[in-house]
Amino acid sequence: MKLRVFQHDQVESTNSLVLDQLEAGAAQHGDVHVAQTQTAGRGRLGRSWASLDGGLYLSVALAPGRGAPPAVWTAAGGLAVLDAVRDCGLRTATLDWPNDVEVGGAKLAGILVESRGFDPDRPRLALGIGLNVEQSEFPAELTAERAVTSLRLADCDSDRWEALAMLLGRLPARLNQALEDVDALSAEFLAGLQLENAEVAVDAGEPVNGRLVGLHLEHGLRLAQESGEERALAIEHVRAVTRRASS
Ligand code: BTN
Repeated sequence: MKLRVFQHDQVESTNSLVLDQLEAGAAQHGDVHVAQTQTAGRGRLGRSWASLDGGLYLSVALAPGRGAPPAVWTAAGGLAVLDAVRDCGLRTATLDWPNDVEVGGAKLAGILVESRGFDPDRPRLALGIGLNVEQSEFPAELTAERAVTSLRLADCDSDRWEALAMLLGRLPARLNQALEDVDALSAEFLAGLQLENAEVAVDAGEPVNGRLVGLHLEHGLRLAQESGEERALAIEHVRAVTRRASS
């Protein structure tokens, strides 16, 4: 697939820009909009995304012509970032459910897939990626919430343009995989989470504990419970999956 790349100095949110363009019929599948800075960047669960100097902020227009649910695109975006940062030497980087890339337990990147009314017959989505690249410190209000890092702090010495090139090198294969091989994408997503067969706590509206014995991005999670029964959970109901400390 061919990516077309558009650069902007300042936008409200690259996701909004892509969704506007998709709505207007002005975007092609694989258009990438990169902004130097965002004045109203969005994060997951209605949070804002601080678009500090030195970060990489971009959104990919997805108009694939056939349906793959949002969770599949979130995984494809997360894996593309994981591939790119591992290329940069961060071999211990992992995914954190559902949309973060972490290194040493600190957040390096976040993914946000949005649509304006998801139509499975005519999907139109924005796949947004925020990657911390050149920052050498973060505001206290961010770090109070959770540990945060950047490529620079994690010892990958790429600037934003090198990071963009690494990411653009890895995105097409993952976007194709989202359409052509969700089984393999699901398996790699689970491997990226490093939670295969781990004892996990799942927030699915209600707390559910068990051993994570399966994950498929279209069919859901399978947990082996202490009772010996297996429990299936639909992906869209799962808000968090965390490893449980062994007792
Ligand atoms: C999260 O971790 O909560 C997801 C953060 C996603 C941020 C990116 S930055 C580019 C794109 N535009 C936005 O407004 N958000 C995403």
